[in-house]
Amino acid sequence: MAVRVFEGKDHAAAYLQYRIAPDELITLLQRLTHQFNLAVDVGCGSGQGTILLAPYFTKVVGTDVSPAQLEMALANSSPPNVSYRECPAEELPFASGEVDLVMAIAAAHWFDRKRFLLEADRVLRPGGCLALLSYTMDFELEYGGVSNTALNDICEECIVVYNHSLS
Ligand SMILES: C[S@@+](CC[C@H](N)C(=O)[O-])C[C@H]1O[C@@H](n2cnc3c(N)ncnc32)[C@H](O)[C@@H]1O
Repeated sequence: MAVRVFEGKDHAAAYLQYRIAPDELITLLQRLTHQFNLAVDVGCGSGQGTILLAPYFTKVVGTDVSPAQLEMALANSSPPNVSYRECPAEELPFASGEVDLVMAIAAAHWFDRKRFLLEADRVLRPGGCLALLSYTMDFELEYGGVSNTALNDICEECIVVYNHSLS
């Protein structure tokens, strides 16, 4: 069951106005992605991160469970290759192996991460990129037979490398 705390229209409007768009992280993602056909921004909210992907991919789809957030995303002007779908992160409306980049900005901590990671693995093409962008790593990841500690250690390592690349 998805956590529904982003539903109000006023909340969605304020979010669109005040959310900081992470341009430099998108630049980093370009370096980590090898094919640029389809990118999916899961838990896209009002679409600030979604539209940043548009110059680099043939098609970009933002997905979210909140109709109010998606309404705001649609009201905000989007490039023609960007579209939005209402769906849970754990049930993405894409064929297996169809997606080049699955991204979630400040959203994965709300997901059922065990189901989301399995779903991301299903839709990503072999060698595709999963990018979980977050303010903190104050949550656990769980995937298949891989231990939580191993996955979180990998994320911590990425954070350290990224912070180092900024300094
Ligand atoms: C903090 S907002 C981040 C929005 C956007 N990614 C950004 O960076 O501005 C989290 C978003 O995740 C969505 N969300 C939460 N749980 C979800 C789920 N299980 N499936 C899809 N979206 C979800 C919420 O509706 C909300 O729009």
